[in-house]
Amino acid sequence: MPNLTLTINGQAHHLDDLDPRTSLLDVCRQHLDLTGAKKGCDHGQCGACTMIVNGKRINSCLTLAIMHDGDEITTIEGIGAPDSLSELQQAFIDHDAFQCGYCTPGQICSATAMISEIEKHFPSHVSNDLTQPKISLEEISERMSGNLCRCSAYPNIINAIYQVLSTKGLTKTDSSNTVTSTTDSKPQIWSPLTSNAKPHQDSNISPCQLGAES
Ligand code: FES
Ligand code: FES
Repeated sequence: MPNLTLTINGQAHHLDDLDPRTSLLDVCRQHLDLTGAKKGCDHGQCGACTMIVNGKRINSCLTLAIMHDGDEITTIEGIGAPDSLSELQQAFIDHDAFQCGYCTPGQICSATAMISEIEKHFPSHVSNDLTQPKISLEEISERMSGNLCRCSAYPNIINAIYQVLSTKGLTKTDSSNTVTSTTDSKPQIWSPLTSNAKPHQDSNISPCQLGAES
């Protein structure tokens, strides 16, 4: 039975006699009381368990904890807290980008790493210009396709991510600052930003809706 040290959200956790078959997700949820990451499918299909390991987003249900001795692991608890939200978490509130909130920790971890990928010019399957990282709603949708939402909050999730990318100058816009899509004639699963969209004002949102608690 291996002993290992996991560095999660900047804190070292020593685990003695861990069953080597234990996934990173189960170690966090069942051994370390870090319950922000959720178990949806446990098969790598939903993205609810997404964590960031050494800067890359992964499905923590599909990787063994013993493979991550010495790695830098970030869970939703390390991204923000109710009194110190990340820019992306605030954008999720602004755009009402969740309903039950079960997928939200994974969505936010995944999108946080995705924004970093865009800043580093990592291409996606639908990138049509590798010289500048300007992202359309369509491309955000494609890059987030590994994270499912059973409440189907996709339009609001994508608009929240778009808001953060916009502040970084990483989005495609036309002269009137509306979203430019290369497939306007096709059916779309996202919604364009509307000029009269109002930020969500409910200050009674629970921490779990932001993905910070189980
Ligand atoms: Fe890991 Fe669904 S719980 S991908
Ligand atoms: Fe309910 Fe996404 S908000 S599953």
